[in-house]
This record gives sequence, structure tokens and C-alpha cells, in this order.
Amino acid sequence: MCGIVGYAGASSSVADHGALDVLIEGLRRLEYRGYDSAGVAVVADGAIHSRKKAGKLVNLENVIAEEPLPQSYTGIGHTRWATHGGPSDSNAHPHLADGGKLAMIHNGIIENFAGIKAQLVSEGAEFLSDTDTEVAAELLGKMYGEANGDLTLAMQLAVKHLEGAFTLLAVHQDHPGLVVAARRNSPLVLGLGDGENFLGSDVSGFIDFTRRAVELGQDQIVTITPDTHTITDFDGNPAEGKEFTVDWDAASAEKGGFPSFMEKEIFDQPAAVADTLLGRSDADGRLTLDELRIDAEELTKISKIVVLACGTSAYAGSVAKYAIESWCRIPVEVELSHEFRYREPIVDENTLIVSISQSGETMDTLMAVRYAKEQGAKTMSICNTNGSTIPRESDAVLYTHAGPEIAVASTKAFLAQITATYLLGLYLAQLRGNLFQGQIKDILADLGKIPSKIQDILDRSDEIKELARSMADASSVLFLGRHVGYPVAMEGALKLKEIAYIHAEGFAAGELKHGPIALIDDGQPVFVVVPSPRGRDSLHSKVVSNIQEVRARGAKTLVIAEDGDDSVKDFSEWVFYVPETPTLLMPLLATVPLQIFACELASAKGFDVDQPRNLAKSVTVE
Ligand code: M6R
Repeated sequence: MCGIVGYAGASSSVADHGALDVLIEGLRRLEYRGYDSAGVAVVADGAIHSRKKAGKLVNLENVIAEEPLPQSYTGIGHTRWATHGGPSDSNAHPHLADGGKLAMIHNGIIENFAGIKAQLVSEGAEFLSDTDTEVAAELLGKMYGEANGDLTLAMQLAVKHLEGAFTLLAVHQDHPGLVVAARRNSPLVLGLGDGENFLGSDVSGFIDFTRRAVELGQDQIVTITPDTHTITDFDGNPAEGKEFTVDWDAASAEKGGFPSFMEKEIFDQPAAVADTLLGRSDADGRLTLDELRIDAEELTKISKIVVLACGTSAYAGSVAKYAIESWCRIPVEVELSHEFRYREPIVDENTLIVSISQSGETMDTLMAVRYAKEQGAKTMSICNTNGSTIPRESDAVLYTHAGPEIAVASTKAFLAQITATYLLGLYLAQLRGNLFQGQIKDILADLGKIPSKIQDILDRSDEIKELARSMADASSVLFLGRHVGYPVAMEGALKLKEIAYIHAEGFAAGELKHGPIALIDDGQPVFVVVPSPRGRDSLHSKVVSNIQEVRARGAKTLVIAEDGDDSVKDFSEWVFYVPETPTLLMPLLATVPLQIFACELASAKGFDVDQPRNLAKSVTVE
């Protein structure tokens, strides 16, 4: 959570960017990470100048308009998702220390802040906020004295006292043109410019200015000036980062004429799936997944796959279970990362851990991956964010190519993740000989047709939007699905909860009579995801029976069915047909109407669908 940006430039640099412009632009891009408050600090005229304000970035911009900042080329900026201390002006970052000469921003949680605070208070320190960050700032101020005014050395001394997760950025009035940062268990990426350097929670923090980026490792300190960057470990030993070029540009992170990022990202989905498939198989359907750094021989020995993920990414994992078990005959367990980590799970060197994370920074998933590695498991990451921590720490990575996902509610990353898990399943089936090459080729051909089928659904989105607007007053919506339709139902419910704040539950349709059917009352809206009638017949007929059962008890039945499935018409208030596709691939189509429904309903209620209350895009604290 929290978005962080740092800038060191100069009036003489080619670009001649002012720090405030860079910081505000970076914060605008990073606001999806947290939007409880925002603040900036710049170094100018031998002093620190800071502005901060509770609420969204626009509130900070209003404050700066009323009380302008002096021209500066060095600064730090922060957008917050509150952990210690509520969202208020005083708890907003930056926090000042050393008599106002030093400013600090922070992402993460400093677990031992209370003890440090007590010690500093006993030494005469006074605190203006309830945050752990102000404690770290005060500690850095104290170390600055011990380091004889060397801000980088002071940071090295300070971080030795800190436990937990943190990315810290600091500037000092005595060091114009210099920003120091430290990271442990929280994200930070370096951006390289021409006569200017940048720091960001992720590359979107500086994508308007450069696409040259450097991945930073765990427990590293980086100091930037306009012309230099120096990376060390916490003891000051030289360390290296890994440079990469960001494969998308600032325009990809714009709304492109759509009213919200979420809607734009829903409409990006044909490209997200197509790009994730691109270049990964030859004309004969032979797959080559070249970011897989695990020996093919080792992969053939795998006896179990455990998928670790949270939220929407975990539902992508649930879809993967059906496909990979069917194609590869390997048992697949899907577990929420935070549950896995704390229950002494049984994994060994024949276990393949597949973590799925859009951001690559979700702390619960990162910790679970680290734990599994310690137990000897092989780890593979399916991730959408180059330069992020989880792929960097995994033995192998399969990148999804969905492009930047800005809206807090995940949409295109979900479809790209499912696509990547299919590629993984087919690759394993190819290696292990579970499927004939011709079968793999046929499935890949079906996958290749998915983008145009998604486009067909998007072209008919008005039908779904109309339904959504008519249901803006609904207080509860249920979702039923079976087989791969079950995770689709769960995802449909999550989307509605997240952005429309409506009570929504997803159920396995077969579970209905074991309890949930008691919820059905007159007029209760129930979405039902119906499997293809061309697939296993029992599956289709059982779900059609479920529609009849809830309808008989007064439910308003809203059905997602396959083109040509007339059997559902008589029992549905509303039907949306998706193009024909093999059952295992169906989630790539059936999810889309549910995303459009949630987005439109939330918009009809007047909610900010991109930045829903209480949430942040990347959950970087446990
Ligand atoms: O970045 P990740 O994929 O690891 O994030 C996992 C979840 O936090 C995320 O999917 C969350 O559930 C989304 N807000 C869902 O829309």
C-alpha cells in the first residue's frame, strides 16, 4: 500500500523538470496504491518545504495552489493507505525531523516502532502524529548527527534498528540534489533519466519521464543525485540492481476516452489475452516458455502443484486447477497465501509452487513463496509487473502481458493470469507427454480465438449495462457456478462487493441445497453461470435444475449461457449469451459480462469505481 516517489534533478539537466511537477505526476499514477492522504516535501533555498493533506491527491493540489512551493529540483512525494494512525492531515506523510531539516516518507509497517518511540521520547523527542513513520524519521535525524551529516550513512545506521516492512525515502535541507532510500520487504524501483533520477513504488511513478528502470534487491539502500545512483546493502557494501526497459508507455496508463480505468481495462481484455499468448508457441503448437528457469527434467518430476495467491488472483488459480489437473493429471491445490503460510503446509522438492500476483508485491504471497522456498519447493511466479519482488525471488517467471492495471478492481490481469496458467498447463502436458501434440495445438487454436470472442461480448455491453442500471438499488446479489463456473461466480461477487459495496456471495451451484438456498426470497437477484450444453451433459443439466430451484423460490434469475443454449430461456428473467468455447476456457468469456455489470452498477450509484473505499491496489502489508 502507499505510493512513493522520489526525484533528484537539476535546472541544468536536459529535461529541466521541476521537482513538484515530477512528484505530482508520479503520485497521480501511484494514487491507485492508496488514497487516504497525500503529501510532498522539496528541498529549496537551504530548507525543507512540505505540504500534506488528508483525502485524495486533488486536496493536496488545492493546498499547494493556495500556498505555493518554491522552485526545486529535489523532492519526495507520498500517497497513503493508512496503517498506523487514521487518515488525517497530521498522519499524512512526509514527516519532518531534526528540527524540520529532514523529511521522510514510508511504505510498510515498522513492527518495533513502539520501543524505539519510547526510547526517543525518553531522550526528549516530541511527536506530532500517531505514525510509525515519524518514529523512523526521528531515528534518522538522530543517526544523521552520529553520521556527521552523511545522509546515506545515517540511513544505514537507522535501518539496523528497524523491524518489519519498509521503503523509506528521505531528503535533508543540507543536501539539495540528493534523495536516500532504503527497502526491506516493500517495493521500490529506480528510474534512470538524463541528468535526473527517480524512485517509485513501481515504474508508473516515473513512466512519464523515463522507461529505463532498475530492479532493487531486498535490504538495499540507494542514493540518487541528478547524475548518479549508488546501491549498497544495509552495511554499505556495493550492490547491483538489474536494469530493464519498461515495455509500456505513459499513454497505456491513460483512460483513453473511457470514463474510468476499470472500464478501459475491461475493454483492454482482448489485447491482454492476445499479448499473453503471443510468441509462446510455434506453428506446430510446440510451446516454449523461455522465462521458465527450471530444468525441463525437474518439471517432469513434479508430483504436486500448489497455487498461492490472494483475491482475484486466487480465483485465477482456481480456474487453473480444473485445466491443469485435466491436461496434466498432476494434483493442484489452490490456497490463499496467508492461510498457507501459517499452517505448516507439506511441500518438498517435488512440489511446484505457482504464485499468481498482478502486482508481484502482495506481501501475503511473497511471504508464502519465501516459506515454500525454505521448504525446498520450486517456485514459479505468474506476474504482470516487471521488476517486482515476487518474480525476482522466484525460480521462474511467466509474465502476463496485460499492460498496466490501474483500477483497484482487477479485470484484465485476471484474464491474462488465467491465460498464463493455461499455457503453463499445456507446457507441462507437452513435457510430460500427457497430451498429444495435436491436442495441444487444437487447444492453442481455441485460445487464439478467445480475443475476438471477448470483443464480441464487449460489443454487446449495452445489454449488460442496461441491466446493471436497473439494479442500482439491489441490496444483495448472489452468484452461482459449477466446475470452472464456480470461480467465475466468486469473481463476479468480489467485483460487486469491491466497487459497488453491495452484499454479494458466490456459491458452487451444487452447494445450494446444503444451505445457501435458504437465502432465496422473493425478488432475490441470482446470477447463474451455465456450462456449455456441448460439454459434459450432467454438468449442464444440473445447473439448469439449479436455476429452476432458485426461481421456484422467487429468485430473479440472471443467466450467462453459451450461444444457442435455448434450455435456459424459460427459467430466466435475463440471459446473456457468450460465444461457444470449450468448457475449460469458458471463464475467459463468462467473467466479462459480470465485470461490466459491476462496473456499470457502481458507476450508476455514483461511486468512484477506480478507487473504492478502504482498498488499495497492492496489499504490501500482511
Ligand atoms: O497484486 P495481486 O494480484 O497479488 O493482488 C491480489 C489481490 O489483492 C487482488 O486481486 C484484489 O483482490 C483485487 N482488488 C481484486 O479486484
